Amino acid sequence: MRLSVIGCGYLGAVHAAAMASIGHEVVGIDVDQRKIDSLSQGKAPFFEPGLQEILTEGIASGRLRFTTDLAEAKGAKVHFVGVGTPQQKDGYAADLTYVNAAIDGLLPYLSEGDIVAGKSTVPVGTAAGLAPRVSETGATLIWNPEFLREGWAVQDTVDPDRLVIGIPDADDEQLVQVVKDVYHPAIAKGTPFIVTDYATAELVKVAANAFLATKISFINAMAEIAEVTGADVTQLADAIGHDARIGRRFLGAGIGFGGGCLPKDIRAFSARAEELGRGESVNFLREVDAINLRRRDRAAQLVVDAFGGSVFKKNITVLGAAFKPHSDDIRDSPALDVAIKLRGLGAWVTVTDPEALENAERLHPQLNYVADRDEALRGADAVIVVTEWDEYRRQLDPEHAASLAEGRIIVDGRNCLDAPAWRAAGWTYYGMGRP
Ligand code: UGA
Repeated sequence: MRLSVIGCGYLGAVHAAAMASIGHEVVGIDVDQRKIDSLSQGKAPFFEPGLQEILTEGIASGRLRFTTDLAEAKGAKVHFVGVGTPQQKDGYAADLTYVNAAIDGLLPYLSEGDIVAGKSTVPVGTAAGLAPRVSETGATLIWNPEFLREGWAVQDTVDPDRLVIGIPDADDEQLVQVVKDVYHPAIAKGTPFIVTDYATAELVKVAANAFLATKISFINAMAEIAEVTGADVTQLADAIGHDARIGRRFLGAGIGFGGGCLPKDIRAFSARAEELGRGESVNFLREVDAINLRRRDRAAQLVVDAFGGSVFKKNITVLGAAFKPHSDDIRDSPALDVAIKLRGLGAWVTVTDPEALENAERLHPQLNYVADRDEALRGADAVIVVTEWDEYRRQLDPEHAASLAEGRIIVDGRNCLDAPAWRAAGWTYYGMGRP
């Protein structure tokens, strides 16, 4: 099938390449010439495992191309819209400028029977507002939220946990069949396929992210209680996680969630609920946000406390910059936030990360960046792990780290290290919500 994908960021670029990988003919469109040049040359403009391979393959096969010209969307049967919906500069609500611009830009190139599939995360009610504009062209708007996780984006796109579409007429079997044809490998595998209305589809997405954020903040709240009682939140998480109704995943206590999705999505959800007169229904999301942000302060405070009250002129090595491993994304990264806090307290901060240094340096030039992990560790008075890359979690031997660092203070901002092994190598170990 011929498909167009408007917006070639973390979501759109992966979607375009993944759709080509399952046999479709795809044109990816973005206003950013640099991004399009890079993608056209088969170079992934950001780090995402597996993307490079399907990009190269897609371009070589002739099924995948990229352009800045929206007119090239003409002739595609389904047009995916995967542009960003960032937090507004002066509030909590989502900024829909890019979604509106993409839809309006697309209108002249739509034909009777086309499908416009919104994938961006939008406030509930957005699709209903956009639909009449699309209908005037003879095309139909559907909402098809995306649940991919960065770091697993290719796999999540080709083989998702579920597919959800919000459509204007639940009995439109022809339209449903076209969407099933798009996602044919997942459909053939029996992936749950939920056909619903616009509002439900939009809400499924924000509800899922709100739930995940709540789960993380719940365990981080338990970490706060553990800290004043001497309990160990990691054991607590293991114990409650054995209850299948609770489950252990997303009960990783630490410096909390960041990235381009969870933080802004829970805020946009609160803002939308307020507009709908139901702010109280999601008041808890403000607590979820507050708990999350407190954990970044807590991590910095642990380092300060380890030095007896001041990090002034101390050499601190920060392991990690990305908001999570297997990504070079630093949007609202808790890791960088902690680094900046320590720098603000007068420490000399050196940051290292396997993938995210270039992005980090562009945004926060005031920090010292060292690509080589061991080089970064050399002479450190304290070390803090803030992104649980395997390079730090599994592959960093505490004895080896001790041979490089000056001091023996290790702060585990992700509770990802083998604490007894670090202690045995002479380190004073500090975890989050652990004695
Ligand atoms: C999230 C959702 O998980 C996806 O399902 C969704 O599609 C995506 O947002 C989106 O809206 O586009 P993502 O932002 O890639 O995906 O990252 P997550 O894996 O959800 O992690 C988010 C943050 O939570 C990271 O900073 C991570 O370190 C943190 N986290 C995760 C914890 O602090 N503890 C945990 O136990 C798990």
